[in-house]
Amino acid sequence: MLRCTLERSPPERFAVNGILLRPPGLARETCCMTSSRLPNSLDSFWMPFTPNKVFKADPRLVTRAEGMFYYTPDGRAVLDGTSGLWCVAAGHNQPKIVEAIRMAAGELDYAGSFNMGHPLAFEFANRLSTLTPEGMDRIFFTNSGSESVDTALKIALAYQVARGKPGKYRLIGRERAYHGVNFGGMSVGGITRNRVNFGPMVGGVDHLPHTHDITRNAFTRGQPKHGAEYADALERLVLLHDASTIAAVIVEPVAGSTGVLVPPQGYLQRLRELCTKHDILLIFDEVITGFGRVGKAFAAERFDVPPDMITTAKALGNGFPCAALLMTPRVTGAIKLEGLGTTFGGGPMACAVIEAVIEAIESEDLMANVRRVSAYIRNTCTVGPVTGHQGAGFLHGLRTSRPAKDVQTALLARNILAGTSGDPNVVRLLPPYVLQEQHVDLLREALSAL
Ligand SMILES: Cc1ncc(COP(=O)(O)O)c(C=O)c1O
Repeated sequence: MLRCTLERSPPERFAVNGILLRPPGLARETCCMTSSRLPNSLDSFWMPFTPNKVFKADPRLVTRAEGMFYYTPDGRAVLDGTSGLWCVAAGHNQPKIVEAIRMAAGELDYAGSFNMGHPLAFEFANRLSTLTPEGMDRIFFTNSGSESVDTALKIALAYQVARGKPGKYRLIGRERAYHGVNFGGMSVGGITRNRVNFGPMVGGVDHLPHTHDITRNAFTRGQPKHGAEYADALERLVLLHDASTIAAVIVEPVAGSTGVLVPPQGYLQRLRELCTKHDILLIFDEVITGFGRVGKAFAAERFDVPPDMITTAKALGNGFPCAALLMTPRVTGAIKLEGLGTTFGGGPMACAVIEAVIEAIESEDLMANVRRVSAYIRNTCTVGPVTGHQGAGFLHGLRTSRPAKDVQTALLARNILAGTSGDPNVVRLLPPYVLQEQHVDLLREALSAL
């Protein structure tokens, strides 16, 4: 089998800005080794959430991954401080997960879930329910975080209709929130640049204030002391709109995309109390925090606040596209699942992956590892341009004295991949749960040298 290796490619002919590309004349199909298969042009793929021109002028490509590391076309090992896009929880190419995908693909490639089924979906939903917060054992499979969110919002509306309260239609989100790219999630979301180009969006939406309070909570570690009263803004929205018009509140228990905002002490509890008082459903968007990222299976458990629905994705599939919505029987018992469901949600391969991910997280006690190494990150990484730390578990925001983008670029030059966020001075660190102290030492050394 012909292999297209970088060494064989004359660099001067097949490189774009230093990144070696596939030699001309070598057909795509014969260039078969995924680890070295490189494109001969970067033009056609329109990259999401990326200034395409900037990327294509200086492409950052990876061709292989294993455990904590990505590998670049020229063979550099890059420590992955981002779990891909916050999803590769059990580490890259985790052998049990790879095997589960192989097995599933060879046994039952696809079966739908509309009026017929396959045993894996039932079996793995049952398995999944052993990890979910008490009482949240009804599981609806989706394909992405965005879809989990829009499904949750639709179910909230259908729930109110089923109870004879169709006038309870308003959805309340929060400033600075990210809930994905679909219309529902965008509408309750609060990141301006993600909303500005898309017209009036879903009607009947309002927003709570965000909880970022740098003045009062500067230098706090863990849950900020001040800010529980931000939840009281829900009382003001109730005064404005009346509770009889409000269906649901959706929040990220720890806001991720805006720059890692941990909920102030008592905030989520107060939000829960107010939702219960006004007969409003509380949805936690745990697309990032779910499945161990905060050192417990869910943030709901970590902060001891029970919502009515939880959206999940990311870590659930360790990079394989699959997602789920968790609900209580109170919600599922009330509604008919009409107008909800997709071709791929809960397919056999996705279910097999979820099972393997749970197995990997549990058998290697990865949540305990998250709790242990998280403390090490907090205690050692306030060096170089890092002036403060905000976060929970393996969801870290490193506050920087310089623009986070510059810090990210400088770290990448030292073979550390970190993320940026909606906050221009927060570098995001959301590593796979297999991160060890020696990896943190690499990060600390790189930061110290900046
Ligand atoms: C809190 C939250 N909700 C929803 C989403 C959307 O998930 P996806 O990109 O899988 O659609 C994200 C993605 O980062 C997220 O962080």
